[in-house]
Amino acid sequence: MPDFESLIKPALLAMPLFRPSAAAADVMKKYNLSSVTKLSMNENQYGPSPRAIEAMIGEAKSHAFQYPDRQGELLRAIAQKHGVTPQGLAISAGASGILNAIGDTFILPGDEVILSSMPYQQYPMVVARNDGKIVTIPVREDLRQDLDATLAAIGGKTKLIMLCNPGNPSSVAENTAELEAFIQKVPERVILMVDEAYLDFATDPERKKSMIPNIERHPNLIVVRTFSKLYGLAGLRIGYGVSSPELIACLSRGGALSSVNRLAMAAAIAALEDESYQRFIYDSITEDREMLAERFRGYGWAVYPSSTNFLYFKTGLDAGALLEALQARGILIRNFEFNRISVGTREQNRALLGALDEILHSGALNRAARSA
Ligand SMILES: Cc1ncc(COP(=O)(O)O)c(C=O)c1O
Repeated sequence: MPDFESLIKPALLAMPLFRPSAAAADVMKKYNLSSVTKLSMNENQYGPSPRAIEAMIGEAKSHAFQYPDRQGELLRAIAQKHGVTPQGLAISAGASGILNAIGDTFILPGDEVILSSMPYQQYPMVVARNDGKIVTIPVREDLRQDLDATLAAIGGKTKLIMLCNPGNPSSVAENTAELEAFIQKVPERVILMVDEAYLDFATDPERKKSMIPNIERHPNLIVVRTFSKLYGLAGLRIGYGVSSPELIACLSRGGALSSVNRLAMAAAIAALEDESYQRFIYDSITEDREMLAERFRGYGWAVYPSSTNFLYFKTGLDAGALLEALQARGILIRNFEFNRISVGTREQNRALLGALDEILHSGALNRAARSA
């Protein structure tokens, strides 16, 4: 067997093996469960619009043998939604595809990339894979990006700033006016990526505005969006970037953008048209998010104000023990420093609260904390 690791790029060898969060099947086996509820990946548990499903079926039946050719139609639909030109858009296999393309296109070895100390997990990978140098800005106490410190960290070698708004895993969003003032101060030679994967779920009027309208005056700004969350198409892998046509043209060179399949395009076109379904998802998720946050606060937990479809919260108990106790009851969540839980369907959220009541009344977590 050749020593493949001796052939690998040094930057990749230094990176940990990718480990997906506990697979549902593993948990079912471990706890002898017949089903699990996955509140660990911030998916939209309601699934796609019925119109998107219908579009996929039609596309599969009639066109699956053909290469995708509805890109223009999809770009026009996205362009109309945001009031931009199709030339200012790139689509890819998920927002992840856009993040990878930004890194592969722009980061040269030694280039500095500014991240917060609580970045979305893919950002450091994108930088490391391209031999960039991560400059870390500690997050503020409220887990927002320290925008002043970010500006102060910009130097001659800075190529890119990767900012997540709202943040994952923090769930908190930046203040729109502060973020716009920040954008104005970033030099044009620095590419500023603002990842709005979750912004569709923001409700606070001071934090819910997209940065897309700023692109006109700031061609170095690229906003990243996805069909995985509000539109419930995570399994289809489709997302997009919005920027100046000049920046988008750079991304389109050399095959950096991963291609999007026909079913995903058909589903995305139909999902964009189905505004009443979008409203249903937004209303259901944001109402239940606030209901869950209230209940969690009632338990005495500190819940960060979420602008997303998940909650990030500090219980004061052992975070790992809570994750385990929920897993044993068939509910998957995810831990970072604290616990993160996706908002599910109404029924799933009720089941979650039932499980939490049971766990908290049993006192098992206090015992775990004491013995930790
Ligand atoms: C902040 C953030 N950006 C990007 C992505 C990637 O999204 P996609 O599913 O479109 O690849 C995610 C996925 O969860 C995310 O949380």
